[in-house]
Amino acid sequence: MCGIVGYLGDKNTKKILLDGLKELEYRGYDSAGIAVLQDGDFQSYKAVGKLLNLEEKTKDFITEKFAVGIGHTRWATHGKPTELNAHPHLGESSYVVHNGIIENYAELKKELQDDGVTFLSQTDTEVIVHQFEKNLQLTSSAFEAFEKTISELEGAYAILLVTKGESETIFFAKHGSPMLVGIDTQNDKYFASSDTPLIGHCSDVNYFDDGDYGYVTKEHIVVFDKEKQQKEPQFTKLATNKLSAQKDGYRFFMEKEIYEQSDVIADTLLGRVNDTEILFDELEDEFFNGIEEIKLCACGTSYHAALSASYLFERHSKIKTSVEIASEFRYREPIMHQDTLFVVISQSGETADTLETLKMAKNAGLKTLVICNVDNSSMVRLADASILTRAGVEKGVASTKAFATQVSIFWMLSLYLAQLRETLSREMIQEQITLLRAVPAAVKVDDTTHERIKRLSKRYLHGHGFFFIGRDIFFPLALEGALKLKEISYLHAEGYPSGEMKHGPIALADPELFTIALLPQNLLYEKTKSNVEELSARDSTICAISPITFDKADDFIQTKHHTSYMLEFFEMMVVVQLLSLEISVRLGNDVDMPRNLAKSVTVE
Ligand code: F6R
Repeated sequence: MCGIVGYLGDKNTKKILLDGLKELEYRGYDSAGIAVLQDGDFQSYKAVGKLLNLEEKTKDFITEKFAVGIGHTRWATHGKPTELNAHPHLGESSYVVHNGIIENYAELKKELQDDGVTFLSQTDTEVIVHQFEKNLQLTSSAFEAFEKTISELEGAYAILLVTKGESETIFFAKHGSPMLVGIDTQNDKYFASSDTPLIGHCSDVNYFDDGDYGYVTKEHIVVFDKEKQQKEPQFTKLATNKLSAQKDGYRFFMEKEIYEQSDVIADTLLGRVNDTEILFDELEDEFFNGIEEIKLCACGTSYHAALSASYLFERHSKIKTSVEIASEFRYREPIMHQDTLFVVISQSGETADTLETLKMAKNAGLKTLVICNVDNSSMVRLADASILTRAGVEKGVASTKAFATQVSIFWMLSLYLAQLRETLSREMIQEQITLLRAVPAAVKVDDTTHERIKRLSKRYLHGHGFFFIGRDIFFPLALEGALKLKEISYLHAEGYPSGEMKHGPIALADPELFTIALLPQNLLYEKTKSNVEELSARDSTICAISPITFDKADDFIQTKHHTSYMLEFFEMMVVVQLLSLEISVRLGNDVDMPRNLAKSVTVE
């Protein structure tokens, strides 16, 4: 997602900022910008798209003496990826860059507008700089104004701010979004939102704690904690390997992305869920008018998310829903009616087969929607409407957080439709909203569970096959679990509806057939349990995933007692992801780049 850099010193500020932003490219972004204050004057440059565009714009800009500078790569959340919405944001005489979300921005913006302040962007960030400048009038120093501003912000942030009145200072604050500062041997100061931009410049860095704020000058780094007490920065050694720094201490990107799911789902929900209703600003009110049916089309993991959605659309929105594998759909001369909403789902927005089906639906005059993680991708540009999943860049080839955010969007969309079609009562919608808000907590990786999975993974490195089984929406999750395992362990695995096993596959049952059974307590528990018992009776090796102890299992991974099957779904999703990861690690495979696979499949 977004990235921040900052620099104060005598070296080439422009180069340090741009190089720093390049190191953050892997996080994904859609626009970028820098602001540099030297000789008492600001220069600021912004560009949409790749950093090359920003480099081109700044090619005649020279910074060869003392300067302070801040830079940012933006992944759009509030407002489109445009130059106006790119950071740094300008007030009268100050610039700010920000990662995170200012939750009370609308209220602050309203007050500022009432005071006559004009806003140029649609972002939440811009309120910070205007609020700071308002506070400059009310306080006796820029630092006091900054401190007051921070105390007025609600939400999550990492902020750097520079202002003309204090032209040799960078103000900073961190609350809920990462930020660190480092010094080099000439005492120049460097900021960033993750390690990599500082590698090669600084050997020691201070990672700010939540609630830290303060300022740096040529001589000092002054840090206050959340109680407004001054504290000494704590310097630690900086990693020297950039790739491992990008992994934030995790062994693999896939592992990092599994752990990130709680944060990215919180981003997915942001602004789309309030206490009583689901909102999708990106959809026109009349978008669903005349729609009697939904057809979902995708490939791979995105197809599994679509299958999960079909249960939710029919259950919550009472709308007929069908799901298609894109590579099949495109050649089978499908019948398409104009009362059908055609929805494509794609992490990348570039998958050739899915893109083709979108074109077919458009040509047939259907209304189209894309659920996608990449703004400005081919599908987003082509579809009538798009909903971005906000998962951030996914580097592991085996998709994890993209799937988690796709299902979260579908759950919200099923409720949004239920609101429109009045298929669920207000009370039921509110109940669902409470559950939705509990998803970020449900997918937080529990250390004990991860340790348990690590230990028991050693028993699942051979055998003649795996069956992941489940019922209802746990069937697509079983498919997804099996796909994850196949992709990174190279072991044969299938996902199956548990009730279907006795119609053939049970013939394979023996101790070398591993059954991974998804046994949620809130959905068809007894039915699924008896299917697992049938397998157990035939001596298949069973690994049961359930909140309820299951004595017929050889291995048991206990999940929490949730009040809804959807929270069980999300927790079990993490369990199957971790199980695949740990089996792959034990087999010595390249977890992040499995053989024969590509992240974006742009050929059919
Ligand atoms: C599996 C995986 C793939 C993709 C599929 C579609 O882990 O990532 O199965 O889901 O190639 O890709 P997108 O979602 O980009 O259309």
